[in-house]
Formats: sequence, structure tokens, C-alpha cells
Amino acid sequence: MSKHWWQTGVVYQIYPRSFKDDNGDGVGDLPGIISKLDYLNDGTPNSLGVDAIWISPFYPSPMKDFGYDVADYCDVNPLFGTLDDFDRLLAEAHKRGIRVIIDWVPNHTSDEHPWFIESRSSRDNPKADWYFWRDAKPDGSLPNNWGSHFGGPAWSYDATRSQYYLHQFDPGQPDLNWRNPQVKAAMLDVLRFWLARGVDGFRMDVVYMIMKHPDLPDQPWVNNPQARAANDLYFRQEQIYSHSHPDIFPLMHEIRTLLDSYGDKVGIGEIWIEPEKWVQYYGTPEQPGLHLPFNFRLITTPWTAEAVRAEVEFMESLIPAWGWPNYVLNNHDQQRLASRLGQQHVRNAALLLLTLRGTPTLYMGEELGMLNGHIQPDQVRDPQGLRMGLENTRDFCRTPIPWDASPNGGFGTGTPWLPVNPDYETRNVAAQQADSQSVLALYKRLIWLRKQSAALAQGRYASVASEPGIYAYTRQADDETLLVVLNFSSEARQHPVPSQAEIVLNTTLDRGGPVSGALNLSPYEGVLLKLS
Ligand code: GLC
Repeated sequence: MSKHWWQTGVVYQIYPRSFKDDNGDGVGDLPGIISKLDYLNDGTPNSLGVDAIWISPFYPSPMKDFGYDVADYCDVNPLFGTLDDFDRLLAEAHKRGIRVIIDWVPNHTSDEHPWFIESRSSRDNPKADWYFWRDAKPDGSLPNNWGSHFGGPAWSYDATRSQYYLHQFDPGQPDLNWRNPQVKAAMLDVLRFWLARGVDGFRMDVVYMIMKHPDLPDQPWVNNPQARAANDLYFRQEQIYSHSHPDIFPLMHEIRTLLDSYGDKVGIGEIWIEPEKWVQYYGTPEQPGLHLPFNFRLITTPWTAEAVRAEVEFMESLIPAWGWPNYVLNNHDQQRLASRLGQQHVRNAALLLLTLRGTPTLYMGEELGMLNGHIQPDQVRDPQGLRMGLENTRDFCRTPIPWDASPNGGFGTGTPWLPVNPDYETRNVAAQQADSQSVLALYKRLIWLRKQSAALAQGRYASVASEPGIYAYTRQADDETLLVVLNFSSEARQHPVPSQAEIVLNTTLDRGGPVSGALNLSPYEGVLLKLS
């Protein structure tokens, strides 16, 4: 069965502030992205070979949450360029066979969005009900006990209306009231605006939050010692009313129908909830929902062969036959993969991500084994870090891409908005392009292999029994069977293989050829074999 591009392809996330700065102001921009499209895919295996890019927000924004606070959904922030630059980016990407997915932020606008400015101007203006406005409780306390993701309560007071408004993130990000039909119509028009320009899909920011319980009731408290900071109300509550009200599912279907009416588009949802509820975002065969609800579970899975195997098997059993899996190891909100797992695990993580059944999404820099940046307390820019302390800042994973060993890693001529990583002179794109065994070389090999292999792109998955510390599985389509063997342990291991197996590659890119009976694996080594 032939699959859609968003099933067989590899998605690459670009955080535009930190990808490539073309105009020298220290912040990445759309012309910078255009200048690096050939790196992403020039149609040859010299390039990374990704099939789609997802660009984090580039819209006009006061940047309280670095673009996730949108002041105009249908324009480009001058910091990043112009709408013409965007059209050029789209055309140049399409010329290279790269699909373009953009970020849609439906749960909240910026407090500087004209909708909110109007809404806050009085209690009876035409947009008075576009956001969640509530009076204090009779005893003077906040309208409910909900907490913001960035610490503290989810309500801020507005003196003009003498009321509180809801914001599940920064006070500069008021939540939109999707139960108001005008809000829904306006936000669906935003999708139409970009679809008409030719985008290939949307990554939908915290889309599960757009339907809350209509009464906004208090949420039960839980004892969560992992709450990230003293003011972390959010993680000390059971989030049962603040998202995923059953009314969300018909809405997901409506959005899916809209996207599908424009052709082969994709809707990818950012959804952080328990898997049994998460899977409902796929919808049903009659009423399909999102094409791909992002699966973040490997981000929090302990990095052992047993835990990762159990997680993949769980996903394989959870997702309905007509749904399509996907995996993510990294993004602009998380510790960098190499820092989280340790550099020794990075190559196996690449082999895993790019050989599992389902769409892989990479985060820029993952292909270089980039580590967390070094951020001093006075360099914190992220609102989560500003409100919840250095250890909670996401600036670590947002430092600029080091393109070469020149000053600022060749990111741009201006002082970068966040410091380049201290190891940029050795860990950079140019250095890894020149090294045929680099982490980048491994990502390229795997991505190009995936394109040529029906087994990898769309074949069946089957778990293969192994001794502890090893995770092995096959991928199979037609007459092609591939075996993946990953040694997660720090010791050499052996794994049985049939006669006439052939090593396609190993994670250090230094062996190939036939192997029969037993495969010897070095510590942390992964091997991809062809069985037939
Ligand atoms: C999502 C984004 C994150 C942002 C938040 C609020 O989680 O990935 O960066 O801060 O939504 O929009």
C-alpha cells in the first residue's frame, strides 16, 4: 500500500531564531533558512535528505515566549523577514522536494494581538467573549485554582475590565475561547490563509488545550514531588478540566477535513497527555482526527533496551491499524538528546528513530549530536527560566546551530541572541561534513537508506527476542527484511543472526559485509542488517 509523504518522510524542526542569521542582527531569519536548504536536501546523499521542515513561529510577536505569543497570525515578523521571503522559502523548498509545515498556535494569542486589545477594552465590546474573562470569587480569590505552565496562577488581573483573564502560559499569552464560534471561524481562516499560500501542513501548538471544561472548575490537587519549582501549581494538579474536553474530538475532525480538502496535507498535534487519551486524537476511521498526534514518550522513557523495547511495543499495540505512529526524541522545549542520554547513546538513538515504523521528527542540531548550550543566569531569555529558575530554562536547547569553526560558528555576523555552544569549533556542520564517520554522516546514511527501503519507510515491525541490554527488531516489506540490533549496554555483546545476513551499516560507520550465525557488538553499537 502506498503511503503519504508525511508517513514515509522525515520531518526536521527549525527553531528560526537559532538556525541561520542572514542579516547579521544576531537572530536567525527566513533568508537564513533559504540559504541552508541545500544542506537539508539538495536531492543527493551529500545532503541530510529530510523530506519536510517544520518551522517554529515566525509571526509578528512581542517575543515574550519567542514567537509562541502571536500578535498577527497572517504575517511575518520583520525580525525574520517578509511574507515575500516566506513565499520564496516555500518555492525554494518545494523545488528541492522539501515540504513546509508551519506552527499554528491556536490555544492563545499574544496580549498584543488586536483581538485581545479589543477584548480587554471593555466588558461589552464585540470581542468581549473571545478570551476567558472571569470575576474573582466572592471571597476575592482567583476564579479557579489553575496554574500556568510557567509557574504561578493561570489568571492575571486586568484593571480596565476589573476582571481576571486566563493564560495557561505567560500572562502575555491569553487563552482563546474556542467555544465562541467567531473565534473558531477566525482561527480556521488562519489555516486557510496559509494553505492557500501553499504550505503542506501545521504543527499545532498545545492543541489539546483548546477545549476546556465549559465551567472551568477547580482541579484536584495531587502530591507531585516532581513539580518543577515551588510556584509550580500546574504540576501539582490533576489536569482534568483544563484540556481535552470531549468536545475537542469533533473539532479535530473538522480541522482534519479542512486540511484534507486542500490535498495531501498534514496536521501534527502537540499533545502531552496519558496515552489512552492521546490515542483518541487520531479519531476514528469514520471521523479521523489529527494525522499525527506527536508521540513524545521516548523523551521520558529510561534509556535501556528493555524500557525502549517495551515502549515501542506499547505504541505498536496502542495505535489503531489505520493510524500511523511517529516518534520524537528532541525539540525546542527539551534537554538536548546528547545531554539527556550521554553522547555514547546518540548514534543508537539515530538508528532507532530512523528505523522504527512511523514518522521520525528531528530537531535541528540533533544530527550533529549537539549538547545543551552553556547559559549563565544573566543570559536566560526563556519565560519558563525567568519565572521558574535556571534549571527550568529552555534556552539550553535553543542555542545557535554551529555551521563552521569561524566566529559565532558561522551563525551570522552579529552577536547571537544566545551564545553558541563552547564546542562549536569542533562540533559543527562543516567539520562533520568532512568526516565520513561523523554523527551527521550517520544521519545522512540512515535518511537516504529510508528513502530507498520500503521495509523502513512503510514495512511491518516485529520485535526480536534478545539477551538483556540488547533491543532487536525487524522491518519487513515484500521480499525485503531488515534486522536492527541495538546494544544499549557498556559491554560487548553477541546476538544471533541467520546465515547469509549482510551488514548494511553500523553506528560508527566502520563495517559492512556478510555475517553468519553470531553478530558481535561493541559497547553501545547498533547494526542494521539485511536478511533477504
Ligand atoms: C508549546 C511550545 C512551547 C511554548 C508553549 C506555549 O509547548 O512548544 O515552546 O512555550 O507551547 O505556546
